[in-house]
Amino acid sequence: MSPLKYWMTVICTLFIAIGAASGQEVKNVFVEVGGRVSFQPTSINPYVSSILWKQRDGESVVKAIEWDAEDGVFIPNKNFNNITTLNKETGQITITNLTVERSGLYTIDINHKEEEQRFKLEVLPLLPKPVIKLEKIKVNPDAVYLICEYSETIIWKNSTGGTLKGSPHSPKGELITVEKQGNPDVFYTCTLENALRNSTSDPVYERDLFKESGLWWTAFIIIPILILVLFVLLYKVWSRFHRKKYNVTSKEGFLLKFTIISNVLSVLSSRLLRLHQTASSLT
Ligand SMILES: *[C@@H]1O[C@H](CO)[C@@H](O)[C@H](O)[C@H]1NC(C)=O
Ligand SMILES: *[C@@H]1O[C@H](CO)[C@@H](O)[C@H](O)[C@H]1NC(C)=O
Ligand SMILES: *[C@@H]1O[C@H](CO)[C@@H](O)[C@H](O)[C@H]1NC(C)=O
Ligand SMILES: *[C@@H]1O[C@H](CO)[C@@H](O)[C@H](O)[C@H]1NC(C)=O
Repeated sequence: MSPLKYWMTVICTLFIAIGAASGQEVKNVFVEVGGRVSFQPTSINPYVSSILWKQRDGESVVKAIEWDAEDGVFIPNKNFNNITTLNKETGQITITNLTVERSGLYTIDINHKEEEQRFKLEVLPLLPKPVIKLEKIKVNPDAVYLICEYSETIIWKNSTGGTLKGSPHSPKGELITVEKQGNPDVFYTCTLENALRNSTSDPVYERDLFKESGLWWTAFIIIPILILVLFVLLYKVWSRFHRKKYNVTSKEGFLLKFTIISNVLSVLSSRLLRLHQTASSLT
């Protein structure tokens, strides 16, 4: 054992011993937002003339609720108003409608003397059901980022139950890089965890991560063809009508048809090019 380790062990042991000797004990309690909590000293002096519960959070000390035989119950801080009650026989404090701000170390003074027992309350935000976000990787079409943007502890898993190590994502949460396995049924989940419970996202399947851009291409080919067909049909109707009216010769008619169709084609192709550019800048 190195000297440093030795001294650290000695110091730690000393601290634990002092703590035990003075009877100081901290009870950790976790409650979700909206919940209620009660703290009560294990034994109470039968000749109680005053009780004071305090909430400590770092440097700040706030009186939560106080009672004395003369003036009765008093709640000096409005944050504890309407949510705090005291049982003067048992010394029990009850706080309801808990918010994150009610977290802290709670101590009790009985007859102006602080009791050894302390209670550490941590009010945890409700866990949402996480939603996995997907981000494509431009340089690698066979990999994607999966992102879980939450402040709680995050656990990534795949369909075989293996845990995957995420990396930090700014401003919060984690991301994993997922490579195409060639199996559409492989899936990934993100689980949020706190001291009380956990909450898992819907699975995200590989088949939804690496969709072919086939849909785009189908749209790009079928839509122009439909438009073209429509134009040709319209043109046929139109030219039949005009030929009757102006008695255009068949040679002139052919030239006219040719000009119109080539104009339509050139407009269409430039439209198509622009659409394609927009689409490829999107993906
Ligand atoms: C406490 O409740 C009373 C009515 O019961 C209300 O007038 C008052 O605003 C409440 N105070 C707080 C801090 O919610
Ligand atoms: C506490 O919560 C209950 C139910 O959730 C609600 O009816 C009540 O108005 C709340 N009281 C305060 C002081 O916020
Ligand atoms: C799931 O993750 C574990 C651990 O990282 C890995 O060994 C396993 O191959 C993965 N399974 C799939 C289907 O990706
Ligand atoms: C989530 O909680 C369940 C029980 O509620 C437990 O069986 C499971 O192991 C937990 N999962 C994680 C990832 O902590």
